[in-house]
Amino acid sequence: MNIAICPGSFDPITLGHLDIIQRAAAMFDRVIVAVLVNPGKNPSFTAEERIALIRRAVADIPNVEAECFDGLLAEYARLCGAHTIVKGLRAVTDFEYEFQMALVNRKLNPEIDTVFLASGSQHMYLSSSMVKSVARFGGDISDFVPACICREISERLSRREEDG
Ligand code: PNS
Repeated sequence: MNIAICPGSFDPITLGHLDIIQRAAAMFDRVIVAVLVNPGKNPSFTAEERIALIRRAVADIPNVEAECFDGLLAEYARLCGAHTIVKGLRAVTDFEYEFQMALVNRKLNPEIDTVFLASGSQHMYLSSSMVKSVARFGGDISDFVPACICREISERLSRREEDG
């Protein structure tokens, strides 16, 4: 079985992430969306919340599952029996860091290859941070996140702003 991992912080998942996951699901037998528990960025959503959102967003794709991981991605891939990491590239500015991570991951686990998919042109500007800054000020994020979780993300982020 050909297993791929789509790793990330997913804080929260966007339509750009979902596009890459859907395309990976068409290429591999099984796709594991791997959520880094502590991305060192003080995430807005807990790992459990991020996974729950992803699971709802991918509920109609039978060969995709979402799990969390902590520690090295190369080690997690080994544990899962995955030989491919799939990442989206939005622009040349993403490339340098992603290329460096691909080389480190292959050094740590020579059985791993990283495959880069070009972001959909309609998602090139999209990021989780952009979604958060729009939602915190009550802006409409319906073009940025999957429809089935849009309301939950909006409410959760605007609530946080009121609390904070
Ligand atoms: O969505 P992000 O924040 O760009 O995802 C980054 C992620 C989670 C893929 C990356 O930080 C990662 O793999 N972290 C795990 C730690 C690790 O393996 N580090 C060595 C390779 S840089």
